Parts: sequence; C-alpha cells; structure tokens
Amino acid sequence: MSAPIQIGTDPSGGPITIDVEELLATRLLVQGNSGSGKSHLLRRLLEESASIIQQIVIDPEGDFVTLAEVFGHIVIDAAAYSPPELSRLAARIRKHRASVVLALDGLEVEAQMRSAALFLSALFDAPHEQWFPALVVVDEAQLFAPAAAGEVSDDARRVSLAAMTNLMCRGRKRGLAGIVATQRLAKLAKNVAAEASNFLMGRTFLDIDMARAADLLGMERRQAEQIRDLARGQFLGLGPAISRRPIAVRIGSVRTGAKVVMQKMVPPPNATPDDLHALLHEDLHLEAAMPFEPAPPPRQPAADDLIEQIAGHDVEAEELVPRAEAPRCPPAKSIRRYRKSSSPWRPRTG
Ligand SMILES: Nc1ncnc2c1ncn2[C@@H]1O[C@H](COP(=O)(O)OP(=O)(O)OP(=O)(O)O)[C@@H](O)[C@H]1O
Ligand SMILES: [Mg+2]
Repeated sequence: MSAPIQIGTDPSGGPITIDVEELLATRLLVQGNSGSGKSHLLRRLLEESASIIQQIVIDPEGDFVTLAEVFGHIVIDAAAYSPPELSRLAARIRKHRASVVLALDGLEVEAQMRSAALFLSALFDAPHEQWFPALVVVDEAQLFAPAAAGEVSDDARRVSLAAMTNLMCRGRKRGLAGIVATQRLAKLAKNVAAEASNFLMGRTFLDIDMARAADLLGMERRQAEQIRDLARGQFLGLGPAISRRPIAVRIGSVRTGAKVVMQKMVPPPNATPDDLHALLHEDLHLEAAMPFEPAPPPRQPAADDLIEQIAGHDVEAEELVPRAEAPRCPPAKSIRRYRKSSSPWRPRTG
C-alpha cells in the first residue's frame, strides 16, 4: 500500500511525491541553513498529508499554530500547562488521534526541552492498543537533540535527548514516525540523524555540514558542492519514501502562513537625523515615570477543557487529577521572579 503526496516539482516541472506510508517506517531528516525553506517544506508536508494521517508538531517558534485555522489542528501552548497536564494531554492525543501543535515559544530553552521530552515520552508510553500511526514533526531538532553540551543543564539535555532518541529509534513500532528538521547537521546528535532513511537537504554553507550531508546522501564530496548552490525552497531528496537516487525538488506552495511574516526590506525613513533624534527622545522622562505593565497573556483553555476538545466529548471526572495537585507553570507576569529561581519551567521573557 502506498499513500503518495506531492511535495513539489523536479527541474522539468514533473511532480515529486513522498510516500507517507513508507515515511512511517523510514522517517525523514531535513537540513538547510536558516532561510533555506525547511519550515515551509514541513508545512507543505503537513498540509498535504493532513487528511490522511494524524500529525503531532513540536514547534519551538510557534510557527505552525496557523495549521489550526485551515486544518483544525489543536494548539497546545506548552507554557500554559503544568507538567502533569502536558503528559495527560499527550496521552489523550494518542487515545483520540488528534492532530496537534505543541507551541513552545512561551518557554525558555531549558523548559522547552523538558516540555518536549515529557510530551514525547507520554506519546511513546501510550498503551499498545493506541499505537495508531502519526507523523511527529520536530522543527529545530538540534534544540532537543543537541550534539554537544550547551548552556542548558545536563539533566534537561539528557531527558530531551533520550526522548528524541526514543522517537527516532523505537518510535516506529509505536506508530510514531519522526520527521526532524535542523539548520546544522553538525549540531544534531548523530544517533538521532542516523535513524532517518529519508533526507531532504537544502542550502548549506559550512563545510562540516556539507560533508555530513554528502555522507548521508552517499555523494562524493565534490558532487556535494551543489548543496551550496541550492536556492531557497530547493532541496536534494533521497530515500525509500522519496527516490532511490538523489533528486532535486522545488517545494510547492502552502495554504497556511507562518505566524510571523518577515517585513520586506524598506529603505530608511526620510526624516533628518535631527528629527529622528527628537522622535527618539521626545517625552522620554514622562514615559519612564509610568510603571511598565506588560499586556496580560491571552487566556489559554484549561487542560481539562482542551482535553475535552481533543476527545470531542466529556471526560469522566475520575480521569482528571484535581487541579490543586498539579504544579502550575508560572504565569507570564511573574517572569522576573522566576528568572532568579532555579525552576526549569520558567517561561521565556521574549
Ligand atoms: N518553496 C518555497 N516557496 C516559496 N517560498 C518559500 C519556499 N521555501 C521558503 N520560502 C519562504 O522563504 C522564507 C524562509 O523559509 P523558512 O522559514 O521555511 O526557512 P527555514 O529554513 O525554516 O529558516 P529557519 O531555520 O531560520 O527557521 C519564508 O518566508 C518562506 O515563506
Ligand atoms: Mg524554520
């Protein structure tokens, strides 16, 4: 059985497809420098397959929340839920086969890692009868499976890396197909990258990344020079779900947009330096006198409400942990206090 979806076109305009059925068994690694079009590619893949397979997106930038508007994905703002709530949500997602976006953009990096680890582990631990096939898309995967120790604690790195390794190494039997994207192959843990049998390589400049990309694609280093010349939105694809030989693909258009759209380049304003100086300094002392009060964050649905939304029906009361028992994530207003504390769940200050 096969389930092809068109992701783009070859240089002569012919369709290039990815077989989602095959992808479930063989996983996908996408790499390309910033701006090469990885997130666009993931979006195309998600949009084209939304009607045929459950999708779970681990989204560090909150880029994919717009899938909800057209495709009905449930958005889970990770910063709004406690760790036990996130685990319960993940378990319900498996049970009810809901397509979701886990938006992590409200959290600091270390809390992003812990939340993703917890969420992935709960997906992984679903009982056998709930091992329905699902694509698990992780954008910026080097954040969750870093090749080297960074600024985050060893513990956060360990749990996050373990969850990602489990997803890529042992997810298949549980129906979870890992699709990971990274800016830098050299920054992604080798055992996570190595478990993907399908690759889509976009524009890459650094020699160390190009060498690894060439190795994965089975290319001569000289041949791999073409990876440097790829345009935005162009990728070299290889693997059982794409093609047995490396092929060039231009990724097709998408229906939803990224949440934040980059402003086009505009020339500097015409104002004179004196005018600009005045604009920047006008009434500065008055504004400083006003207490700084950040806007309250938008209210997120309570975990129980979201669970009901995922389930599409009322959830039995005994299944729910009393709210008082669950440690809450700190609200955005108390950011400064939490910055000083050692809580790994502190939200990102933005
Ligand atoms: N195939 C394409 N067709 C049209 N526009 C594209 C295509 N690929 C990328 N773009 C546009 O190029 C810009 C950068 O793409 P994208 O955000 O996907 O890059 P990225 O590789 O994810 O970068 P980063 O690593 O910084 O997140 C976006 O505005 C996107 O809409
Ligand atoms: Mg991106």
